[in-house]
Formats: sequence, C-alpha cells, structure tokens
Amino acid sequence: MNHEISQDSYAQALKRSQKIEQALSENPGQFRVLTGDRPTGSLHIGHYFGTLKNRVRLQNLGVDTWVIVADYQVITDREVLGDVRGNVLQLLTDYLAAGLDPEKTTIFTHSAVPALNQLMLPFLSLVSAPELERNPTVKAEMQAAGKTALGGLLLTYPVHQAADILFCHGNLVPVGKDQLPHIEQTRLIARRFNERYAGGEKYFPEPDALLARTPVILGLDGDKMSKSRNNTVMLRMTEAETAKQIKRAKTDSDRNITYDPENRPEVANLLTIAAECLDRTPESIAEEIGDKGAGTLKLLCADALNAHLAPIRARRAELESNPDYLLQVLRAGNERANEEANRTLAAVREHMGMVY
Ligand code: TRP
Repeated sequence: MNHEISQDSYAQALKRSQKIEQALSENPGQFRVLTGDRPTGSLHIGHYFGTLKNRVRLQNLGVDTWVIVADYQVITDREVLGDVRGNVLQLLTDYLAAGLDPEKTTIFTHSAVPALNQLMLPFLSLVSAPELERNPTVKAEMQAAGKTALGGLLLTYPVHQAADILFCHGNLVPVGKDQLPHIEQTRLIARRFNERYAGGEKYFPEPDALLARTPVILGLDGDKMSKSRNNTVMLRMTEAETAKQIKRAKTDSDRNITYDPENRPEVANLLTIAAECLDRTPESIAEEIGDKGAGTLKLLCADALNAHLAPIRARRAELESNPDYLLQVLRAGNERANEEANRTLAAVREHMGMVY
C-alpha cells in the first residue's frame, strides 16, 4: 500500500512556504520557530543540508528558534530504546557544531518537560480515532517497522507533536514533506481547543509548515540517505573517510557531466552536494567538469564537502571533549522550556476551569 501525501496539499504548502520566506526577511520577529528531531544518533549531510543549515539561517535572521530533541518519539516505532542518552548528546554535538547557538536557540528534550507532556490529555480529547488512523506518515512508519498493528504511542504521537509545537506557541515549523499531516493535525487541535475550551479566543496559533528550499540529498547509492544503508557521509567522519565514501558513490557511464536530476539522479546528487558547499549552481559545476568524467566530479565533490565541513568538524571535536558543557546547554534549554510549558499549562487549566 502506498501512503502518499497528496500532491495538492504539497503544492499548497510549497506556495505558502514561499510567501512565508518573504515575511521572514521583512519581519522575523513575528515568528516563533519550533522544530526538532528524534535522537537516533549523529547526523549525516542529508540532515545538515536538508534541515540543520536552514535552522541556523533562521536563527541568524533573528527568529526566536526552539528545537526539541524528541526522546519520547524514539519509542514510537521500536521496542529497543538503545543508548538514548548517548544519542541525545551526539545530536546536541552536531547541532552546536553546525552553528545552533544556545544563546539564541532553545534546545530541550521531551522527557524533561512534564507540563508539555500533560497537554497531550486535553489534546487527545479533540481528535477521533479515525482521524488518527488516517495519518499517512503514521501508517508508513508502521509498515517500515514491519508491523501490522499500530502501537498506542505510534497512533497518537502526532498529538504529542502538537503539544511540542503549541506549548511554546510556535507558529512556524520547518519540516520535510512527510511531516505535513502532523502539522495539519496540530492546526486542527489548535482550532478545536480555541473553539471548545477557550470560548473562541485564539489562544493557540495555527502553525504553518516551512518546507525546505534545498533539494533533498540522496544517499550515495541513489536511494534514501540513511545510516543503516551505509550510503551517507556523517558530519563526524574524517576527511579521508569522506573522500572514500564519495569515491564509492554510484554514477553512470556517460563521461560528459550534465545536471539532469530526472535522468541522471546520482550524478545530479553529487553536483547538488558540491553546489551547496560552494554556493554555486549545479549547472555551472557540471559545465566546468564537462567531459572529464565522474572521477573528476567525485574529487571536486569530496574536496568541496571537506572544506565546507572543516570548521564544523573542528567545533565538533572541541565539543566532544567537553560533555559537561553539552549537559549545561541542555539543562538551560530544559529550564526555559519548563518555564514556558508551565505558563501554558496554567493558562490551559484556567481556560478549562480546572483551577483549584
Ligand atoms: N517527527 C519529527 C521527525 O521525525 C521530529 C519532531 C518531533 C518534530 N517533534 C516535532 C518536528 C515538532 C517538528 C515539530 O522528524
């Protein structure tokens, strides 16, 4: 079965994102960004070019930015918790190395913010089981996990995610296409809360998705990039490991390098990576290489990537030697998130007449 996000709603979200980009450059102060990740280990260049770089850009535009390390989401689709603490610290290391600044961006974890989690109770009262069961991303995750039945948390985690966004009144959520159904569910919950419990007052905002402007980076074999497929370049790799990975990348037999994502996706992918690093267009790089072949393209791509990642990797090494600092950052973020969540929960209880 294919659980696709409808092309219509994707096109609509893209158009809306372009409008929001305009508003962002004119008046960044009107937005509060909330986004996040599941902590399942360290990050690869797909994460970096697809989302992380964009978060750093938003932060540096002056947008109030919040990033959740969604530790409870780790157990939506797997029985094995793994080294969750180690994975959280790895993720945090990559965040800070890539340029998220804890003075400007609040980084926090689900499990340390009780009032955020409590919002899930009133929110669950606002959705029906069929609405939850219809979510295409949840269904796809169930299938990817090899399950035939939805676990309770897998079914309801989009409601939890609504709490992630709404506890801090986030109104802009940078995400990939797969997350659009969750944003839709969040908007529905905000709307219903306002109608049902807040007497029509617009207490919660109806947040917008902000879709990434960068093209999706594929794995080096042309498949989806993922650590388990060993088709990635991890941020934490050395320069030699990076060059080796790129050298192994799949290409095709045409020596003349052209940028043709439709017919030559693997070659286009290497051109895209190089273009992101060099701040050039993939077409201009293809033209420069011409008929020098895929070997030349790979060398250029590896050099560009290593040069681009060098400062990030240097910061990474520094951070890794200082776990106390990482914990300090996380605790400060958790403290801010708790203040915010407690304030919101108090207002919610007030709206619901549950103040004793
Ligand atoms: N579900 C998101 C993912 O897998 C991670 C996430 C958790 C998130 N909470 C969020 C994203 C809130 C945006 C907003 O990528």
